[in-house]
Amino acid sequence: MSVTQTPITRELFNEVILPIYAPAQFVPVKGQGSRVWDQQGKEYIDFAGGIAVTALGHCHPALVEALQKQSEQIWHLSNIYTNEPALRLAQKLTAATFADRVFFANSGAEANEAAFKLARYYATQKISPYKTKIIAFYHAFHGRTFFTVTVGGQPKYSDGFGPKPADIVHVPFNDLEAVKAVIDDHTCAIVVEPIQGEGGVTPATPEFLTGLRQLCDQHQALLVFDEVQTGMGRTGKLFAYQHSGVIPDILTTAKALGGGFPVSAMLTREAIAQVMTAGTHGTTFGGNPMACAVAEASLDIINDTQLLEGVDQRYQWFIDGLEEINQQYHLFTAIRGQGLLIGAQLTPEYAGRLRDIIQAAAEHGLLVLSAGSDVLRFTPSLIISEQDVQQGMAKLQRAIAQIIG
Ligand SMILES: Cc1ncc(COP(=O)(O)O)c(C=O)c1O
Repeated sequence: MSVTQTPITRELFNEVILPIYAPAQFVPVKGQGSRVWDQQGKEYIDFAGGIAVTALGHCHPALVEALQKQSEQIWHLSNIYTNEPALRLAQKLTAATFADRVFFANSGAEANEAAFKLARYYATQKISPYKTKIIAFYHAFHGRTFFTVTVGGQPKYSDGFGPKPADIVHVPFNDLEAVKAVIDDHTCAIVVEPIQGEGGVTPATPEFLTGLRQLCDQHQALLVFDEVQTGMGRTGKLFAYQHSGVIPDILTTAKALGGGFPVSAMLTREAIAQVMTAGTHGTTFGGNPMACAVAEASLDIINDTQLLEGVDQRYQWFIDGLEEINQQYHLFTAIRGQGLLIGAQLTPEYAGRLRDIIQAAAEHGLLVLSAGSDVLRFTPSLIISEQDVQQGMAKLQRAIAQIIG
């Protein structure tokens, strides 16, 4: 196809990009902190944070500096060589968590793919070749590779691609009895999000997580926490597992790890890691020096008591704002979540208007998200200012007024 110098507009998306997304009608071109500007120079307040990615806002100076510095040193080496940023980041991630070993990849799905392969490999090598069952939950989301989308509990994303990876069982979330009914000595892992993000911002109860840990221990199965969305300070702790005291065997993190630069990690303990040998798993870009340099800068800032306490404070600003809107319009049946992963469940009457609300919010200069079919989701920067929260809430209130009338 010959390329003429046509203007770059939203319409071009419909011609050149695989039609798997339905992006907004405007094209953002610049971001700073919790503000974004589109091609026409219109300003938006960002309550979406790139779906829980830009945890330090857009173009945070420390991340820009880390990227610039590393870009003048070395960009890429492959796994034939190791590199300093990857080693430093791994050292800091293990120091900050239960884990001893790290595998770097580029996306949440890849970190989970590695986690599920590790869980199966560990069980089949150490215990029995038949120990392959994975227990996961309805409405879970773990990524779009065929293994991860199959472990995810939303058949609409995994149907239609032919035979699925086998021996994966789904049961209702937060239902320990259901897990007890399917777990057995052939189970290699239970995979769970501490708060189901994409599925509708549904927190796991502390008793559920404790129960899963006990069941895993009873059946020599590994407990895998998918913290792709909940990790890196999102819930007010560096990782959500640190609230519950339930320690997983494997944890995955992505999204906010690079603050907008693609990078992910799978963390585990020494005894589990030791089952892997050179060649068992791998990736070209995992541990890329640029990605790890940015992630290190991001971790240095986020893993800080004051910043994490600030997340709890911001949670309250959001809850106050949403409750005030709800007192006026009565359109939420529940407001839930933890830290800056917040979901407002719409009444059945307004659930069908979710898209309209998001679009009206954008018209008023506010970026917000959905989760599932009836939840309005907020995953802003962890350092968003009180003024930005208040102005954003005022925009949301006007958007809702426009929709509800
Ligand atoms: C909990 C969870 N796991 C995995 C993923 C997949 O991550 P990625 O889109 O980076 O592959 C997501 C993405 O939304 C997620 O929320």
